[in-house]
Amino acid sequence: MIKKFDQIIVGGGVIGCSIAYQLSKRGYRVLVLESSTTGCEASNSAAGMLGAQNEFTEEGPLFRFAQDSRRLFKELSDELISETDIDIHYVHKGILKLSFDQQQNRQLEEIEAFQKSMGNPAYILSRAEVLELEPGVTSEVASAVYMPDDGQVSAPDLSKAFFKAAQNRGAVIHENERVVNLLVTDGEIYGVSTIHDTYHADQVVIATGVFGSGLIPETASTIPVKGECLELELDTPVIQATVSSDGCYLVPKQGGKVLVGASSLPGRTDKEISAKAVSLLLEKAFLMVPELSKASINRLWTGIRPGTSDGKPYMGAVPDVSGLYISVGHYRNGILLSPITGIYMADLITGKRVDPSYYESFNAGRVNEFIGRGGG
Ligand code: FAD
Ligand code: GLY
Repeated sequence: MIKKFDQIIVGGGVIGCSIAYQLSKRGYRVLVLESSTTGCEASNSAAGMLGAQNEFTEEGPLFRFAQDSRRLFKELSDELISETDIDIHYVHKGILKLSFDQQQNRQLEEIEAFQKSMGNPAYILSRAEVLELEPGVTSEVASAVYMPDDGQVSAPDLSKAFFKAAQNRGAVIHENERVVNLLVTDGEIYGVSTIHDTYHADQVVIATGVFGSGLIPETASTIPVKGECLELELDTPVIQATVSSDGCYLVPKQGGKVLVGASSLPGRTDKEISAKAVSLLLEKAFLMVPELSKASINRLWTGIRPGTSDGKPYMGAVPDVSGLYISVGHYRNGILLSPITGIYMADLITGKRVDPSYYESFNAGRVNEFIGRGGG
C-alpha cells in the first residue's frame, strides 16, 4: 500500500529537519527521507557560529533574514530542551575579529561603522581592552572589533534536536533511504520514489544541501565549497568568545575544546584533509592564541557548504511544478539561518503571507528571471 503524507521533505540536514519540525508543530503529517543519517553532511561539520554580523558586510534581505534568525535562538534553545531534552549549547559571548596591522585595523573600522549604521553593537577594542576581555589572545594583537551579539551553538546537537522535536510532534523519519525520483503528473507533484519504496504527498520540499542534482532545476543548482576543520583540546578553556582573523576562526566548545576552521575550496566535493590546510589553520590558530600550541588534536574533518551563484539560498516554489519546493544553498550560514528557514518555508507551504522582500530575493525562479532579462 502506498503511504500518504501532507508533505515529504527530501534531506535530513539542519534545514530539512527545521522545516519538518515547523510543519509537524502545525499539525501536518510529515515524512523526512534522508539518504544516510540525519545531519551527516554539512550540518554536522559546521562550527555552529551564529555570525549574523560577522559573516555580513552589506545590507539586504539576507542580512535582515540572518538578524531575524539570530534573534530566535535564545527561545529556540529553551523550546528544544523542553521538546527533546537536547541542549543545543547556545552560547552568547560574541565574536572578536583581530587585527595585526594598520590595514587590517582599517578594515575593522569599516566593519564597526557598517554594523553601527545598522543599529548593531560593534566596538573597536585596543590591545589592552582585547587582553582584558580575552587574556588567552596574543599580546601581538593590534586591535579588534567585538560584536557581542553574535553567538554559537553545537551544530550537531541542533540538527539532532530539530530531528527529535519533529519526530516527537509526529513526523516520520526514514534514514538510509535515498530519493531517486520525483513523481509528477500534469505539472503537479504527487510524491517521490526512493531506493526502497514510493510515497505520496501534496507537497514535496527538496532540502538536499549540495547533493540535490537530478532533483532540483539546474537554474537553482548549488555550488560545493569544501571546508576543512579540526578540534583542539586543552585541560582548561583558553577563550570565551569566538576569535577570528585572516580567514581562520576559533570557536570555544564544551570543556577546553576549541574548533578551528576552516578552509574554503570552491568546486570540491571530496572529503580528503590536506596536510597543508591543517598546517595553515594551526599556524593561524597559534598566532591568535599561542597557548593552543600545547593542545592535543581530537578530530579532523571536512564538510561541503552548499553555495549558490549569487550567495543567497533558494527557498520557495519551483516554477512549473505545482507543489514542489526547494530550500537549499545556505552556504556558510545554514546553522544560523535554520530556525527562520523552517518558519519561512512552513509559512510559504501553508499559504501564509511572507515578507515580500524575502520572497523576491530568495525565490527559486530568480535565476530564470535573471537569464530572461539578460537575453533581452
Ligand atoms: P546538509 O547538511 O548537507 O544536508 C542535506 C542532506 O540531504 C544530507 O544529509 C544528505 O545526505 C541528504 N540528501 C542528499 N540527497 C538526498 C536524496 N536524494 N535523498 C535523501 N536525502 C538526500 N553555518 C553556520 O551557520 N555557522 C557556522 O559556523 C558554519 N560553519 C561551517 C563550517 C564548515 C566547515 C562547513 C562545511 C559549513 C559550515 N556552515 C556553517 C554552513 C552549514 O553547515 C550549512 O549551510 C548547512 O549545514 C546546510 O544544511 P543543509 O540541511 O542544507 O545541508
Ligand atoms: N561559517 C563558517 C564557515 O562556513 O566556515
